[in-house]
Amino acid sequence: MKKLKVAIAVLLMGMIISTALFANGQSDSTSGDDGIFTIGMSQCNLGEPWRVQMNADVKAEAEKHANIKMVFKDAQNDTLKQRAHVEEFVSAEVDLLIISPKEAQPLTEPVAQAMAAGIPVIVLDRAVMGDNYTQFIGADNVIIGKAAGEWVVENFGGKGAKVVELMGLQTSPPGQDRHNGFTEALKGSDVEVIFEADVKWLEPNARKEMESALSRFDDIDLVYGHNDPATHGAYLAAKAVGREGEISFIGIDALPHEGVAYVKDGILNATFQYPTGGDIAIQQALLILNGESVDKKITLGSRLFTADNVDAGGVPLN
Ligand code: FRU
Repeated sequence: MKKLKVAIAVLLMGMIISTALFANGQSDSTSGDDGIFTIGMSQCNLGEPWRVQMNADVKAEAEKHANIKMVFKDAQNDTLKQRAHVEEFVSAEVDLLIISPKEAQPLTEPVAQAMAAGIPVIVLDRAVMGDNYTQFIGADNVIIGKAAGEWVVENFGGKGAKVVELMGLQTSPPGQDRHNGFTEALKGSDVEVIFEADVKWLEPNARKEMESALSRFDDIDLVYGHNDPATHGAYLAAKAVGREGEISFIGIDALPHEGVAYVKDGILNATFQYPTGGDIAIQQALLILNGESVDKKITLGSRLFTADNVDAGGVPLN
């Protein structure tokens, strides 16, 4: 009788423990009870076509996999909002976080908190500080900036060309890198940057800054915008005062319906592709969620589009 009581007690204890584990979700460590992985996507803004494309690329790839559920949050270019979004994803215990951060420094800590909570993090396009994340995916912006500078020296060197540089947000690594690469390529040449401004990736800011540049300088040979919206804003400012014909315009992003179309229309002289990496982020997320090890960093390639090669799909950067 005593033995029977002990056996029943042991059985009951076992049932209580397994119920508790199941309630905590520990009985299934790879995905939710339904086998679905929830991926949180923290996007810094959807005000620019390139970011709309990134989310579309993420969505299209995720839809190929029945076991992925995407939750998108748009921080509307507000760093504090993006920090809050990451914290919300951590509280909601998503299975994995993809973040394309507005700025490096303020998003570093929330990403670290997600990691500390056991949530793998893929950082896409704009980096955070340090290396406390699972994986970084993006093109090399120093290489792209340098290629832009080399293109300018090749096409305008020896003529003492005067350049306006409209920079991306200087608290975001792509803006810093596109500037540094460009500056590096111009060293020792007679190409001179006569006006530079941080237009924070935004077309209206670029248009305004270009209006100042045009009123200050009678002689501008080329505009280097850190993204195609910036370059397009500068083009519109020049066109408004009838000076677009005397200036060359180069940009970065090369979306088919934006920069590449501008090259085809003769608005831009060149644009350098900046792939969104949205599809690759989902492919890598699945590997991570399935417990496979992945590279810490994936560097995406780029292509140059000019009037000469645009119909053939551009040429790859070396
Ligand atoms: C969009 C964007 C792109 C640019 C990228 C850099 O927000 O400004 O135009 O290439 O971000 O992170």
